[in-house]
Amino acid sequence: MVSAVQSSEGSSPPAHVAIIMDGNGRWAKSRGLPRIFGHRRGAEVARQVLRRADELGVSYLTLYSFSSENWRRPPPEVEDLMGLLRVYLRSEVADLHRTGVRVRMIGDRTRMPGDIIDLVEHAEELTAANTGITMVLALSYGSRDELAKAVRQIAREAADGGIRPDEIDEDTIAQRLYTRDIPDPDLVIRTGREKRLSNFLLWQAAYAELIFTDVLWPDFTARDLEDAIGEFHKRERRFGATSA
Ligand code: IPE
Ligand code: IPE
Ligand code: MG
Repeated sequence: MVSAVQSSEGSSPPAHVAIIMDGNGRWAKSRGLPRIFGHRRGAEVARQVLRRADELGVSYLTLYSFSSENWRRPPPEVEDLMGLLRVYLRSEVADLHRTGVRVRMIGDRTRMPGDIIDLVEHAEELTAANTGITMVLALSYGSRDELAKAVRQIAREAADGGIRPDEIDEDTIAQRLYTRDIPDPDLVIRTGREKRLSNFLLWQAAYAELIFTDVLWPDFTARDLEDAIGEFHKRERRFGATSA
């Protein structure tokens, strides 16, 4: 709960940065390449941005990697994306662990291929005690789906007598989201020109600063991250209070 006006100017880095990594397909198309080339380059960019975010002192970096709506894409593209994720998890986890990164996943585990969930869960367990940046992978993630799931759980608990309907408050809901132990994002960045949230952290981003950039994700650099954080520091966060 924040009650006072907060200017982020000159203050510490945003604790939680969340990124909608969009524009891979257009990046590839503009080069006459198949979309998977954009996704591959995008995975490399994610690696570099994670490193820079860690160096800058960001505590949580959430990467919107595959949405609950992305299952509607043509099966070959979905297969390519899952394949890339497999390769990434197999090749990167040891290095992530060595560098102190903590890995987490948010999203619907039941819709993801079982072997990928095994890799994710292995990474989560291996890195659970690390103290560096937490990389939150949003996979098969959609906010509405997450909220519907939370409502089902609350209804079950109410029916069982564990919760009194009159006592349901914001915390009751927040504690039943995938992000129950992750702070709300301070900054949400969307690359790739579109200006929408596409079902990403709708509850959690209630007071996040939003930055939209035309840069396509495969062209995004550590410098672009620094610029976004610089812009964040210029914003005055009021959380509903009067201005300074
Ligand atoms: C983002 O890039 C990656 C995913 C959604 C998985 P896109 O694949 O959406 O790229 P564009 O928007 O078509 O350029
Ligand atoms: C949002 O990008 C999802 C991810 C980046 C994983 P999309 O490309 O799926 O979003 P829309 O379809 O343009 O809203
Ligand atoms: Mg897109």
